[in-house]
Amino acid sequence: MRLQGKVAIITGGNSGIGRATALLFSQEGAKVVIAARNEARGQETTAAIKRSGGEALFLVCDVRRAIDCERVAQRTVEEFSRLDILFNSAGVVYPDRIVLDTSEEEWNQTMDVNAKGVYLMCKYAIPHMIEHGSGVIVNTASVWGLVGGNGAAAYCASKGAVVLLTKAMALDHAHQNIRVNCICPGSVDTPMVRREMEALGGAEKARPIFAAKHPLNRISTPEEVAKSVLFLVSDDASFITGASLAVDGGRTAGEVVVGQ
Ligand SMILES: NC(=O)c1ccc[n+]([C@@H]2O[C@H](COP(=O)([O-])OP(=O)(O)OC[C@H]3O[C@@H](n4cnc5c(N)ncnc54)[C@H](OP(=O)(O)O)[C@@H]3O)[C@@H](O)[C@H]2O)c1
Repeated sequence: MRLQGKVAIITGGNSGIGRATALLFSQEGAKVVIAARNEARGQETTAAIKRSGGEALFLVCDVRRAIDCERVAQRTVEEFSRLDILFNSAGVVYPDRIVLDTSEEEWNQTMDVNAKGVYLMCKYAIPHMIEHGSGVIVNTASVWGLVGGNGAAAYCASKGAVVLLTKAMALDHAHQNIRVNCICPGSVDTPMVRREMEALGGAEKARPIFAAKHPLNRISTPEEVAKSVLFLVSDDASFITGASLAVDGGRTAGEVVVGQ
């Protein structure tokens, strides 16, 4: 077991990539704190972990609120005596929005959850890691933090911010033995993407279009992304910090020239 004895906070751990990662971390021996807003989904996930013999706690948390993030970090240490891992998975997207269609409210929501939420959770988690002498953080960016995408202006801005926030924190905290990396997924089969597919006329029509954006010609499962997060938080990645790991089936590898 690669995370035996470790304690992990996972924001957005009650759905999609965060949920798959919470289950995998638990299988690898970690005690898991799930921080998100929807209590029913949170309790369902912690129940699934406990049924498999793991330890888990759900805490209601809106990552846009400093007071919530501070409480999650504090309660984690009170409950489990330490904090080793922070995986920031919470995120939102408003599909099909160019700048002209993006309301100020949507812009603020996107930046507040996707970028400010990462800053706030790190701000309150890192002091506990410093006290303990080590820590690992994985943030969730996107392929749209590495390259632009159409119809997702605010989302791209928020994920670009996550990529560089990750690098800045990696530099700032390396001397404290804290590694900070991010993952950049392509399309992943989660409720977020299923909602996007519905908005584009339904899964049957949209799924092949989403798949075709990836040279591997499919979208990924949340479990595949969770395995990449596990790698980054494990000692197998002990010399990796400041990295943006594309988990994207080749989507950002370069241009595919038709006919060659
Ligand atoms: N799916 C993809 O194709 C894809 C691709 C690239 C990147 N990503 C990124 O991967 C991450 C996870 O997305 P997903 O696909 O797993 O989507 P998802 O299933 O919709 O999960 C999103 C999670 O974010 C949480 N969340 C949203 N707003 C929050 C808030 N204000 N405070 C706390 N938690 C909040 C949600 O929980 P509550 O609603 O209960 O709060 C939920 O757990 C996101 O950062 C997303 O941008 C996804």
